[in-house]
This record gives sequence, C-alpha cells and structure tokens, in this order.
Amino acid sequence: MNRLLAGLLAGAMLFMASPMQAGGDKVDYPDGYRDWTHVKSMVIQPGHPLENPFQGIHHVYANPKAAKGFETGTFADGSVLVFDLLNYKEAGKTLQEDGRKLIGVMQKDASAFGKTGGWGFEAFAGDSQTKRIVTDGGAGCYGCHTAEEGHDFVFSRFRQ
Ligand code: HEC
Repeated sequence: MNRLLAGLLAGAMLFMASPMQAGGDKVDYPDGYRDWTHVKSMVIQPGHPLENPFQGIHHVYANPKAAKGFETGTFADGSVLVFDLLNYKEAGKTLQEDGRKLIGVMQKDASAFGKTGGWGFEAFAGDSQTKRIVTDGGAGCYGCHTAEEGHDFVFSRFRQ
C-alpha cells in the first residue's frame, strides 16, 4: 500500500506538471466497455492527494484480452482497460453514483505506444466519446503507472 501511495504521489506531480502539448488520437473510445469484465472498484474521498481529478467512485473494466492479462501479469496487444470515474452523492448514509466525470483508457499496442510502456493512454471527459483530455501523449499518466512496471504498468488486480 505504501508503494502504491508513493507511486500515486509521484505520478500526481508529474501529471500536474505535464505541459499541455499536442496529443494524438490513436486511442479508440472503448465502445461497449460496460459489458466487459468488471475488475474492481474504489472510492477516492475529498482530502486524498489525488482528489483533483480522481475524487469519486471508479470502476475498472477489462476487455477479453485484458481479462486474460490479469491471469498472466502481461497484457497482449489489443488489451483495453477502462477507469470509469463517477461523482457520488451522500444520501441517507449511502454513497450513490452520480454523473460521470471522465473515463481513463489504456490500450495496448507495443509498437504504436513504445514510449509509454506499450500502452496508449487517453481520457474522455464526462459522457463524451470525442472530448479527449490527454494532451501530452500520455506521458503524465505513464509517469505514475511506471510504479507498476513489474505488472505491465497496470495497478489493478482482479478481485475474485
Ligand atoms: C498519480 C498516479 C496516476 C496517474 C497520474 C494516472 N493514474 Fe491511472 N491509475 C492509478 C492507480 C493507483 C490506479 C488503480 C486504481 C484502482 O486500483 O482501483 C489506476 C488505474 C488506471 C486504469 C485501470 C488499469 C490499472 O492500471 O489499474 C486506467 C485505464 C488508468 N488508470 C488510466 C489512466 C490515464 C488515462 C491516466 C492519465 C490521464 C492515468 N491513469 C493517470 C494511478 C494513476
């Protein structure tokens, strides 16, 4: 957990320090990801170092190739992972899902994304399939995900 937090912090700094640069649009919007394998969920609360922009409830999804990757620890080209980040609201001692903040996407293509560990990183704002957020070619995202180099740059583990 300490290693995770250290990675989170180091990455957050990179993320925030990343200059806005022209980005590509090589990562596809992950059509149909809500039907994919649900990997795990997490709530990030106010006051967490990553509150901005990651506060909320997120669910991680894997397409069939990426789901296989969780078994082996390496992810084949064509693997896609989605970080589905929603706001939440408190109601009667519950936390309820609210509107979507963004989705983060990792798409594996070793030759196209060699500079960022073989993964293309992109994020789409809100419910939009076209409003791309990443403008530095994924360097900021990758900077934090390098903490998981030994697990092919993927933080999540599949929850049984
Ligand atoms: C400060 C660190 C940090 C930064 C920056 C960061 N991530 Fe992550 N990301 C994480 C952590 C930690 C998880 C695991 C969350 C969990 O376990 O529920 C994660 C999970 C993910 C996942 C699910 C697969 C996995 O690795 O668990 C995707 C997809 C993802 N991030 C995409 C992105 C994209 C796209 C960006 C840049 C826009 C980005 N991330 C920036 C820390 C970071």
